[in-house]
Amino acid sequence: MNILVINGPNLNLLGTREPEIYGPETLEELMMWLETSQQGSNHSFKFFQSNHEGEIIDTIHDERHWAAGILINPAAFTHYSYAIRDAISAVEIPAIEVHLSDIQNREEFRQISVISPVCVDQVSGMGKDSYLKGLKLLLKHDA
Ligand code: DQA
Repeated sequence: MNILVINGPNLNLLGTREPEIYGPETLEELMMWLETSQQGSNHSFKFFQSNHEGEIIDTIHDERHWAAGILINPAAFTHYSYAIRDAISAVEIPAIEVHLSDIQNREEFRQISVISPVCVDQVSGMGKDSYLKGLKLLLKHDA
């Protein structure tokens, strides 16, 4: 399966960004761990991180003919980006929303995801294992 992994704003600072909430690994370590996991073998990955909404939308558009699945941590865009939501909906590629932290048990504004209605599933609060579980769920949608 060709899998596009998208990480949103501030996730480039993983490792030093609030490690008590988001864990000690850098984004690069986390993505390498995912790609080399047993579940990841025999699949192709493209990784993209951006702090800019439009760049995330452009990447979803640009990779729409390559990607068979999208694993996305939209970070803060989760809570208000109707534009990213519409992009996922437009390309009609199965997408799984993942979060390191448990967004349902944090500040009130984090409890709303405008992205989840267009995703096949959401995984949250399992630290880096959220990505692995998200990958497993995505592989079930391998056509
Ligand atoms: C996050 C949760 C978001 O609320 C936050 O804005 C992030 C990271 C997570 O992975 O837990 O940047 O998506």
